Amino acid sequence: MKKRLAVFASGGGTNMQAIIDAINNNEINGEIVYLVSSNPKAGAIARAINNNISYGVYTLKDFENAKMRDQAILTDLKKYNIDYILLAGYLGIVTPVLLNEYRGKIINIHPSLLPKHGGKGMYGIIPHRAAIAAKEAFSGATVHFVDEGTDTGAIILQKSLPILPTDDEYSLQERILKNIEHKIFPQAVKLLCEDKVKLIDGKAIILEE
Ligand code: GRF
Repeated sequence: MKKRLAVFASGGGTNMQAIIDAINNNEINGEIVYLVSSNPKAGAIARAINNNISYGVYTLKDFENAKMRDQAILTDLKKYNIDYILLAGYLGIVTPVLLNEYRGKIINIHPSLLPKHGGKGMYGIIPHRAAIAAKEAFSGATVHFVDEGTDTGAIILQKSLPILPTDDEYSLQERILKNIEHKIFPQAVKLLCEDKVKLIDGKAIILEE
């Protein structure tokens, strides 16, 4: 049975597009059936429309608090029988309302070599700026399970590339996005949809046959 996936995205949605492309190439045993966005102007919404994916916009200001927002999201995820949640540039904080229901079934992509340059406020260009400021030799991206913290969950896949003397934060961001994120995120989703990665005792365990 194909796994039913929900993508959560607030931005351009190029990582969501990488998943759509991998699904269309039959690389992933799943389908994206719902997009959750915190931003009515997210490029990810246009991608959902182009690919006949249903979507909902949940802006924090429309709810009393984040838990109430997540309650509304949870109700909709249940309608769509969602198996896994993929955070792909989602700027909302996932509260225990969703975490408790989908423990070990929510993954995130972050554009740094976690635990470096992660945590609150580390989104967009900021992790890349931080990696350059720290004079790191390498940077990269990480796919991890989501827990109560920000960017602290068990790591599933991580890949790096060298930071070049000619790099600025924007060139680094672009190379990491294209050369790493768009590859490791579909790879992790493939593992998830084939039941080949599990969260066991707080660790991401990849299962071989
Ligand atoms: C990516 O860099 C991702 O790692 C981070 O947010 C960015 C989203 O980009 N979490 P896009 O919307 O997928 O193009």
